[in-house]
Amino acid sequence: MNASPRSVAVGGERPYSIHIGPGLLGDAGLLTAALRGRHVLLVSDDTVAPLYLQGVRETLQAARPQLKIGQHLIPAGEASKTLHNFGGAIDALAALGATRDACVLALGGGVVGDLAGFAAACWMRGVDCVQLPTTLLAMVDSSVGGKTAVDIPQGKNLVGAFHPPRAVIADTGVLRSLPARELRAGLAEVVKYGCIRDPLFFQWLQAERAALLAGDDAALAQAIARSCEHKAEIVERDPLEKGERALLNLGHTFGHAIETAQGYGAPGNDNLNHGEAVAVGMVLAARLSAALGMADAADTESLRTLLQAYGLPTAIPAGLTPETLLQHMRLDKKNIAGRLRLVLWRGIGKAEVVPDVDEAAVLDVLRGG
Ligand code: NAD
Ligand code: GLY
Repeated sequence: MNASPRSVAVGGERPYSIHIGPGLLGDAGLLTAALRGRHVLLVSDDTVAPLYLQGVRETLQAARPQLKIGQHLIPAGEASKTLHNFGGAIDALAALGATRDACVLALGGGVVGDLAGFAAACWMRGVDCVQLPTTLLAMVDSSVGGKTAVDIPQGKNLVGAFHPPRAVIADTGVLRSLPARELRAGLAEVVKYGCIRDPLFFQWLQAERAALLAGDDAALAQAIARSCEHKAEIVERDPLEKGERALLNLGHTFGHAIETAQGYGAPGNDNLNHGEAVAVGMVLAARLSAALGMADAADTESLRTLLQAYGLPTAIPAGLTPETLLQHMRLDKKNIAGRLRLVLWRGIGKAEVVPDVDEAAVLDVLRGG
């Protein structure tokens, strides 16, 4: 299979396209197609910006000399997805004099995408956002579907808005500079799609492990496109997570609790990043499903084996108590009326939302590590 550009359509009230392919950040036509006005704010982080921001800026300026382009950079890492840095993006939009036809371009991973998207959702009650994801995780998940947010010390993504992008442009060429650990983190979210609704994709991921870990262009493009097709199908039917979209959170209630309890990952600390936390969370969800009699323990083992083959963690990191994790899980956005509502499964490819999960059963699983 070649790695030529392809696109996935996301339907619904505000349809848009996800463009996937090498070199797309240099495609002036694609980059400017979604721009309606004169103001563009480029949001990025201090790892991605030195690699790619100037090129994007020059491409835009050459194609549209009249554009006023501002930029807002945040330090790399989850610890930057804060109200403070959100405020900085808002200040940058104000300094630019951005009007309602402005566009925020989110150039980076999920941290930049979520924060920039939230700034776009809030500035003048909503301006356009184009996602330019630069991590595998952002290409397969966070850039699509319009969830935007920042973290607060009490929990992940607790402040945010639904604000779909006008376009997603995933330049797969930039994955060449992505650290191996971040590639693996993205693969955790790719595995998630197999777990929730696509057993054949799960098998494909078992077979293609070596190619994907080696960064093979064609295998990565296939994984990204398949993941985006799954996400597009779900979010166009349920953009505001009234129902099936919750399935995309398999492993996330556990994972977010781990991230919150650790105080969020950043370059230079050993805390789990989002994808790693989701990997552990999916195993915990599978174990809980087995403990509740919903699924076979053999499925947990298949998942654990696959995640380990991708070099991902599958057990709760040392130093986190089950009680603390449970406390963080109680603040999850899926919960209703103070009851734990979790995404569990009936086996590979068969996830479902389970309301009112018994906390004692959750604690047992958390104690088992
Ligand atoms: P990230 O944005 O922190 O990026 C990971 C690291 O890779 C950072 O240090 C970044 O600077 C670096 N990086 C990014 N692109 C690079 C490149 N091409 N070359 C070299 N380095 C590069 O993390 P992430 O894993 O992309 O995203 C995680 C975030 O996404 C979390 O905050 C999570 O909550 C969020 N998320 C949101 C959704 C959603 O639907 N909105 C879905 C999944 C995850
Ligand atoms: N990543 C979960 C969602 O977009 O709903």
